[in-house]
Amino acid sequence: MSEFLPGCEPSADHDRLRKFEADFTPPEVARLCLECAFEEVWREPFFGTARVLDLGAGAGVWSQQVRRTCPIRAKITGIEIREEERSHLERNCDNVLIADFLDPTFEIRPTFDLVVGNPPFSLFREFVERSLAVAAQVWLFAPYDACTRGADAAAWLADQSRHLEKQLIIPGALKFRNGENPKTKKPYTTDFRTYALWCFSAFKDEEGWQCDILEMLPSQDRKWVVRPGTEGAP
Ligand SMILES: C[S@@+](CC[C@H](N)C(=O)[O-])C[C@H]1O[C@@H](n2cnc3c(N)ncnc32)[C@H](O)[C@@H]1O
Repeated sequence: MSEFLPGCEPSADHDRLRKFEADFTPPEVARLCLECAFEEVWREPFFGTARVLDLGAGAGVWSQQVRRTCPIRAKITGIEIREEERSHLERNCDNVLIADFLDPTFEIRPTFDLVVGNPPFSLFREFVERSLAVAAQVWLFAPYDACTRGADAAAWLADQSRHLEKQLIIPGALKFRNGENPKTKKPYTTDFRTYALWCFSAFKDEEGWQCDILEMLPSQDRKWVVRPGTEGAP
C-alpha cells in the first residue's frame, strides 16, 4: 500500500513535502535527460573520474540514473535539504550532504564537472546561479517557460543567455506524484505543463541557444509507482 501513497512512505510528512516542493521525477525521464547530457558533455574523451552533483536530490533518482547510464566513472554527490532522505541518498550517491544549497554559509568546493537534477521550481534561477559557481556544466529540469513568465524572470533569462546553451523539451504529460492528496482526498493528477532540461555552461562560447525536442517516452515511463530513488530500500 505504501507505494501508492502520495509520493510516499506512510510516514511521509506532507506539509514538509509541500514546503520544500518535493516532487519526484519518473526514473525513465531522468535517464532520458542524462543520456543526452552525457552524450553532449563528454563528446570529447574524458580522462579520470567525473564529479557529478545531484541538486535537490530527493531520494536520489538522478544519482541512481547517473550510476546506471554514465559512460565514464563518476563520483556523485547528492545535496538535499530534508534529512529524512539520507538513507536513500546513501544508497544512491557516493557523498551525501544534507544542507540548504542556497544558504550563503554553506560552503562547497567549486570542483564539479556537471550538475544535474530537478530543483524546486520557485528557486530555479537561484539554483542555476549558484550551480554555475561550482560546476562547468549545469543541466537542470524545470518547466520550459520557467524563465519567461514575468518581466523579472525574462530579464534574468536575457542576462543568463551568456550561459544558456540548450533547452531540451520533454514531450508528453508527466506525473510527479502518486496516490491521493491527503487534504482533498482526490488522486493526484498528471501535470500537463511542458518540461525541459535547461543546459547552461559556465564557459559558453557561441551566441544564442538551441532548442531540441527529445523522443516521446511511452506514458507508463512518464509516471511512477514506487517512489523514485527508494527502490531497493530495505
Ligand atoms: C522537485 S523535488 C526533486 C526531487 C528529486 N531530485 C527527484 O527528481 O525526484 C526538489 C527537491 O529539492 C529539495 N530542496 C528544496 N529546497 C532545497 C534547498 N534549498 N537545498 C537543497 N535541497 C532543496 C526538496 O526537499 C526536494 O527533495
